[in-house]
Amino acid sequence: MKKLIIALMLFATPMLSMGAASPVPLDDADVDLSDKESLQRGFKYFVNYCLSCHSAKYQRFERTANDLGLTFEDVKQNLMFTADKIGSTMDIAMTDKDANIFFGVTPPDLSLTTRSRGPDWVYTYMRSFYLDDSKPMGINNTVFPDVGMPHALWELQGWQEARFKKSENGQMKFEKFELVKAGSMTPEEYDAAMRDLVNFMTYLGDPSQMERKALGVKVILFLLVLFVLSYLLKKEYWKDIH
Ligand code: HEC
Repeated sequence: MKKLIIALMLFATPMLSMGAASPVPLDDADVDLSDKESLQRGFKYFVNYCLSCHSAKYQRFERTANDLGLTFEDVKQNLMFTADKIGSTMDIAMTDKDANIFFGVTPPDLSLTTRSRGPDWVYTYMRSFYLDDSKPMGINNTVFPDVGMPHALWELQGWQEARFKKSENGQMKFEKFELVKAGSMTPEEYDAAMRDLVNFMTYLGDPSQMERKALGVKVILFLLVLFVLSYLLKKEYWKDIH
């Protein structure tokens, strides 16, 4: 019994630590790696809005094109601004030193962020930038307080302000956002776009996941066929004995 409790605790620890990384509750990103169109849209947002500051250097454009069902021509023409060879990794021109001068911090490589932070964290983070005069850049983020990243997608989302409420213990608790300047997307469209972006970043964190799943299905089918054949064979062998 004791062992079982310890095993259960060990099992639950990673889940607890993932949730604890954010001061506000996280929204469900609802990722679906089988939705190729969503992954393609996410890829487009990623190269257009993130790949200027962040790299994803563990990933090649070529592999992304293959996995997402895009032609090399398509990717080269419309989605490659930082490299000219389809076999290049998704790296950026900015050096760590430049980044430090611009932002005071280096924008981290995003290849594995959905694995370290979790897709729900990234999804909520991308929707939680708000105007805050007390900060040097004039913005803040409820998921990542005092963040050093500008709101890269303000043109799409617009600007929102955060409303806080005093809780019983006297601390200010985040209540809700209010949109004060509309962007080019409605809030629903923006949420859907962020779901696509996080879906793509989840693929990026584990590009062979789709292959593994497809292989798993094939293995199970193979075992089923083998089972039927073995059963028939057994019947055949025992036929004369009964
Ligand atoms: C203008 C540069 C810039 C752009 C564009 C930008 N970021 Fe950032 N980002 C940063 C910087 C700087 C940080 C580090 C913030 C800090 O540590 O305070 C950061 C941090 C992050 C983090 C937190 C990583 C972690 O684990 O701590 C995520 C996630 C992220 N960015 C996602 C994105 C996505 C997705 C996009 C594209 C929609 C994007 N960023 C576009 C500069 C940028």
